[in-house]
Amino acid sequence: MLATQHPVFRRFWYPIFQLTELAEGPRGFRLLGEDIVLWLDAEGAPACLQDRCPHRSAKLSVDSQVVNGALACGYHGWQFGSSGTCLFVPQMPELRAGARSAAKAYACVARYGFAWVCLDEDPLLPIPDLPHAEDPGFRQIFEYAEDWDANFLRVAENALDVGHVAFVHRATIGDDSKPTMPRLTLVPMANGVNFRCHLPVANRSDQQRNLRIAEEETVRTVDIKWLMPGAFTLHFTYPNGLIHAICGFATPIDDHTCRRIQFVYRSDTEADAPGADIAAFDRRVGSEDRRLLESCPADFPLDPKAEAHMILDRPSLVMRQTLRRLLREHDPNAHLAAAELAAPDTLAVEAA
Ligand code: FES
Ligand code: CO
Repeated sequence: MLATQHPVFRRFWYPIFQLTELAEGPRGFRLLGEDIVLWLDAEGAPACLQDRCPHRSAKLSVDSQVVNGALACGYHGWQFGSSGTCLFVPQMPELRAGARSAAKAYACVARYGFAWVCLDEDPLLPIPDLPHAEDPGFRQIFEYAEDWDANFLRVAENALDVGHVAFVHRATIGDDSKPTMPRLTLVPMANGVNFRCHLPVANRSDQQRNLRIAEEETVRTVDIKWLMPGAFTLHFTYPNGLIHAICGFATPIDDHTCRRIQFVYRSDTEADAPGADIAAFDRRVGSEDRRLLESCPADFPLDPKAEAHMILDRPSLVMRQTLRRLLREHDPNAHLAAAELAAPDTLAVEAA
C-alpha cells in the first residue's frame, strides 16, 4: 500500500518545521508528494501555501521573503496572505487582485513548538494531545528532525515493535543475549494502538548518567501509543521515578521518504541531566532504527499474509488492521489488492 495513492492520509495533521526554523524565513517541504511552503505571518503564526505561485508558477519557497507578514514571491514580488489571497502586486500597486491570482492555502497551526499542516479541509482527527505537554513539572527537549529514506508507516510501526530492541539497539539499550520479551498488555483505544509492558533494558555509561541510574540493567514500565498515522508516544517510567516521554513523528514526504521528528518530555531538570546529552543519546538510538528501516521496501503491506509475524508483533497487526479499516471506510476507491481488502479483522498471529 502506497500512502500517496490514498487521499485519506491527507486528512491528518503532520508536524513539519519548528517555529524557530520558520523565524529564519520561508521554507519549502514536500508532504505526501505535495510541494508546500511555510512561513510565519505578522503575528508569528505559521501559514502554508501550495509551493506554486499563481503568476508564473515559480516555487514560492525559492528566494521568497516575508514582507509585513505576507509571503513575497522571489520571481516578481507578488505578496500573498496566509489564506492565499494576493495582497499586493508591486508592479501595479493600485490593483485589487482577483480570485485567479490567489495561491492555494492549507490549514496550518502551531503546537508543541512546531508548525502542523493538514492538506484536507476536513481533518479526521485533531492534532494528538501529548502526555505532559501542559505539565509545568516537565521540560520539553527537542531531539532531532531528519529525513529518512523509509516509509513513514514502517517508521511508526517500528515504535510498536519491542522485539527489535535487543538486536537493533545492542550498542545502546539492547542486549542480544536476552531477546525474549515480557507479555504485552493491549489496551483498547479508539483511534490507534496502545499497549503496556515491562521492558528490561541495558544501561551503558552515558545512559546511566542521563538517567541517574547506577545499575547496568533496569526494568522500565513502558506505555506505547500509536496515534495515527505517523505519530506515536513511548512513555517510559524508571524505577527511580524518572519519566521520559518520547513524542515521535514520521511525516510522509512521499512513499519512500519521511521526516523523522522527535522531542521528549522529562520529569527531571537540566541540572540533573543536560538536554543536549539526552537528545544525543536518543538520536543515536534513532539512527540504529534508521539503518534497518531504510533497508525495508517502500511498500507498506496490509495483507497479513504478505509478511511473517511472531507473537510480539500483535500491536503492529492491530495497526495494520486499523489501517485496512481506515481505507475501507474513508477511501472507497482504494486501489488495494483483493487480498488486502479481504483480509479478516481477526488477528492471524503465529507463534515464533
Ligand atoms: Fe511569482 Fe511572478 S512567479 S510573482
Ligand atoms: Co528502535
